[in-house]
Amino acid sequence: MTYEDKNFLDSLEKRYEVIQDDSYSNLVHFQTTYDIPFQRWYSYREGYSYKLVEKIIKKYDIKGILLDPFMGSGSSILAGRLNHLKTYGIDVNPISLFISKVENRNYFTDDIQSIQVELSEFRQLERDTITRQTTFELASKYFNKDILQTLLQIKEHINSIDNSRIRDIFFLSWLSNIESVSNVKKEGNGLKYKNRRRMKSGYINIPIEEWEKNHFPKDKFTYVIDKIVSNIENIIEDIQNNTITTPEPTMLLGSSMEKVLEIPEEIELTIFSPPYVNFFDYFEIHKTELWLGDFIKNQDELKQLKRTGLRSNASASVSKSLENNNKSVSHLTAILETKKLWSNKIPTVISGYFDDMETLLHNLYTKTLIGGRVVIVVGNSAYAGVVVPSDLLIAEIGEKIGFKVEEIIVTRHLTTSSQQRKHLKDVMDFMRESIVILRKE
Ligand SMILES: C[S@@+](CC[C@H](N)C(=O)[O-])C[C@H]1O[C@@H](n2cnc3c(N)ncnc32)[C@H](O)[C@@H]1O
Repeated sequence: MTYEDKNFLDSLEKRYEVIQDDSYSNLVHFQTTYDIPFQRWYSYREGYSYKLVEKIIKKYDIKGILLDPFMGSGSSILAGRLNHLKTYGIDVNPISLFISKVENRNYFTDDIQSIQVELSEFRQLERDTITRQTTFELASKYFNKDILQTLLQIKEHINSIDNSRIRDIFFLSWLSNIESVSNVKKEGNGLKYKNRRRMKSGYINIPIEEWEKNHFPKDKFTYVIDKIVSNIENIIEDIQNNTITTPEPTMLLGSSMEKVLEIPEEIELTIFSPPYVNFFDYFEIHKTELWLGDFIKNQDELKQLKRTGLRSNASASVSKSLENNNKSVSHLTAILETKKLWSNKIPTVISGYFDDMETLLHNLYTKTLIGGRVVIVVGNSAYAGVVVPSDLLIAEIGEKIGFKVEEIIVTRHLTTSSQQRKHLKDVMDFMRESIVILRKE
């Protein structure tokens, strides 16, 4: 970045109270939640720990309504319920809504008994000889043939469970194991083949037959069943050990920019982590589960879903016109337009992202009670050596709308490639994940 660009970042930062607090650093990502009751039912890679939200609830002694407009797997909702708050959640991805709904139901002793009865039948299942079809064209590449047939047979069995609460538990456990039994894994901005290994000399592809032979046991049916059973056993344990009786949350499917206006009450705490402006396409990352789980039926539905997401990546509706005028964002995109970028859509995506953010914050302002807060967990990014300081830009937008920027808590600095580090030498400090705290006065 040039001297002027650094000046731009410094002068924006000087306007706010920016503090470093490492006690949040382990709470902003999902790694720490694999053993946490309820959150472990489905590993939602993009999630944060419910303890982060709990910390904020306690810090501000929240007693009123809590909303997460980018609910993901429902971590904020869980924290709200554990702290006896009435909660609302919104997400544009039907998988998120499903996970959040199942993880945030109030379960009772009767449910445990019904799960156990169903589980003993489930354990007795045997592989039949029917060949089942799926509309997911990539399925034959993403799965070993036997494993795919096993998954389809088990799904059919789960769909036949009469009790919808129990069916949902089984379906969530089935869904949550799709990745672990497939030939691909979520990595970076997409799905990567597991038989592709990085060696010192570069990438190599282990022949798929050889990889499958070494990776999966002979009895693939039992292998998949055991994984699902183990998930359900965790679920039983969590339900047995934790009784939550807070009223169940209200969840809305759709884009939060508009959906927040449907919340019928004034909100005391809105807390969320939106997609970052890093070109990650969440629908692409979750596409195997979307297809196999019958959340989508054809390419058009997937395309349509992608278009409703926040404009953080090129599959969203990036050509939509801008509704707001933001000088700092225009300044930044003007700099980017002079650079050699890996995609010429980068400036448009960035403009769209902050435009959506402004619409959202504007609508949230109207829904927040006086004294209430909007708390945003966000990561900054960089393109061609230019930092996009999302935390500062969101704070500035919030201020423009009428919020007071209480503070920006820097939770951790982001790791960057050595190439990026060279480019970002003087501004590495801005490559960080922060919590922006806005208050309606
Ligand atoms: C970083 S994740 C949130 C994870 C969540 N905090 C958790 O702990 O599970 C961002 C979420 O925003 C959702 N999303 C993207 N665009 C959206 C939009 N326009 N409206 C509502 N949700 C959206 C994605 O589907 C994704 O679940």
